[in-house]
Amino acid sequence: MKSERQVAIVTGAGNGIGRASAVALAEAGMDVVCADINADTAETTASTGRQHGVDAISLQVDVGDVAEIDAMVAAAVERFGRLDVIVNNAGVTRSAHIMDLTEEDWDRMHRVNAKGVFFCLQAAARQLIEQGGGGRIINIASISGRGFKGTSNAAYSASKGAVISLTKTAAQQLGEHGITVNSVCPGVTRTAIVDEIIGTRARERGVSVDEYLEEFTKDIPIRRANDPEDIAAMVAFLASPAARNITGQSYNVDGGLVTS
Ligand code: NAI
Repeated sequence: MKSERQVAIVTGAGNGIGRASAVALAEAGMDVVCADINADTAETTASTGRQHGVDAISLQVDVGDVAEIDAMVAAAVERFGRLDVIVNNAGVTRSAHIMDLTEEDWDRMHRVNAKGVFFCLQAAARQLIEQGGGGRIINIASISGRGFKGTSNAAYSASKGAVISLTKTAAQQLGEHGITVNSVCPGVTRTAIVDEIIGTRARERGVSVDEYLEEFTKDIPIRRANDPEDIAAMVAFLASPAARNITGQSYNVDGGLVTS
């Protein structure tokens, strides 16, 4: 049966920015497919989504595996009969100096952050085209893909630069189908991924997490790190009717850290 509501898939929906984005889209009235490699956290997000009067399901998906991506889109369509939005959010990193990065680091980050985003985008676009066009693809990149060195590493930056680049090409090639493709580039956002990095950096410098954070936020013009909801607000806007003519763009949400 076809849902009367719009339907969104969010990858990495079990935590942080993905979780906040899935909840924001549910608040906006969309049915949501909460996909994550961690089935339990995905289901926790889906149950929060259902509290907003929409339908939400959880799926265990590894976005580094193309067959699992295809199965995710098929499951969404089987359940809801349509797809309108995909938020390609799942991502991994680790705190490391360029000279300490290994081949395994490179492969792990690119498998999830670049390959995962590309094949989720492609699988979603295939479905959007098949159902007659229209739809929104929203990729979560990073200001590290624009050269910000604060919390990132070189392999991670490269994987996020790939997301910013493929957003532009995909927007040009999918525009004829009425599909928009945009990215959000979060700055420092208080989620598990970043709290781990902040903890490591604080230990390296021999200061407390609070001291390191205070030092760190001094460099942010607005003087605060993002909450996941700050990114989710941009995701919800890009998924909304108001953003219908915006495509191929990557928007920083970072308190002013990077101004290009
Ligand atoms: P997080 O670590 O809190 O959540 C990431 C989620 O992705 C987790 O639920 C994890 O289970 C899931 N995941 C990991 N590998 C997966 C896979 N192979 N398949 C499916 N799901 C998988 O991370 P956070 O901070 O919410 O980050 C979300 C996105 O935002 C990532 O792409 C990250 O690179 C990006 N980002 C985050 C920033 C931050 O300051 N937190 C800054 C810039 C970008």
